[in-house]
Amino acid sequence: MSTPSRPRVFVSRRLFPETLDLIAQHAEMDVFDGSGSPTPEELLARTRGCAGLVAQGTDKVDAAFLDQLPDLRVVCNVAVGYNNIDVAAARVRKVVVTNTPDVLNEACAALTWGLILGVTRRLGEGERILRAGQWKGFQLDFLLGMDLVGKTLGVIGMGRIGQAVAAKAAAFGMRTIYMRSPRRPDEVITGPDGTPYEGTTLEEVLRRSDVVTLHCPLSPETHHLINRHSIRLMKPSAYLVNMARGPVVEEASVVSALDNGWIAGAALDVYELEPVVHPGLLKFDNAFLIPHLGSATRETRTAMCNLAARNLVEVLEGRPPVTPIPGSYVP
Ligand code: 8YV
Repeated sequence: MSTPSRPRVFVSRRLFPETLDLIAQHAEMDVFDGSGSPTPEELLARTRGCAGLVAQGTDKVDAAFLDQLPDLRVVCNVAVGYNNIDVAAARVRKVVVTNTPDVLNEACAALTWGLILGVTRRLGEGERILRAGQWKGFQLDFLLGMDLVGKTLGVIGMGRIGQAVAAKAAAFGMRTIYMRSPRRPDEVITGPDGTPYEGTTLEEVLRRSDVVTLHCPLSPETHHLINRHSIRLMKPSAYLVNMARGPVVEEASVVSALDNGWIAGAALDVYELEPVVHPGLLKFDNAFLIPHLGSATRETRTAMCNLAARNLVEVLEGRPPVTPIPGSYVP
């Protein structure tokens, strides 16, 4: 008896062995084994003839790409963000698209607090001074930062990750306000103790917060949400944190803000043109800069890869995806 042929899939990065084992049980798998990312040409060439693609947030999946891949049935992003995928173009071509929500909430929220503490307590500066052998010993007024207790946290993007960040604010003695979604003006969002957070406008969040933290998806509406105009609404004593996507912030406006003292500091995990970082940012000690590490724990990245693999297998075997991207085609 002949066995039915197994679907072919392309996995655009070397994933964890347990994830690859899972995929290999269900499909003929080709894995990108180069260092870094496949070029767009390689991505296209290796996905040709495949029914499934396991992609990363840096792999562009647009209409032109999909048009050349008539066999493709599912694209599984190993990321919660999906600004790399044209969801509408995939839907009209009946390609299912999936992401990896929830499994990374805690890792991203924890590191957001790392960024907040890093910039408000000047951890980067301190480490640089110590490693350079320039520490002169205890001094009462050395590297003084800002207390979080009694201050206001302003969350822009009060989704799963934003709420996980807010849930930890009370532990630092902070009060949380957030930007109400223009699409859901009546939504009430409550904290772990059932008390509703105060939702308000973007302008109010920027004006009133001591720490503004970004967790919204990148979309045409949020592109450069923080720009030269909006950043000037922040208090000169306030800090900006970006754990969302680089282009939500116009990086040049952060450079101007730090240069002119419009804000007290910025902590960034993501950048407009990754891996390029605006050279202006590197000049400022009050810019705390880390390289896109939001979900980068072994446990979380493993869970993300495994969720992407489960989505792939479900769709290839004719079942509904576990976590389709909102607006995805679902057979
Ligand atoms: C990913 C992220 O690891 O999930 C996201 O949206 O930004 C990160 O957690 C990164 O995009 C790699 O695909």
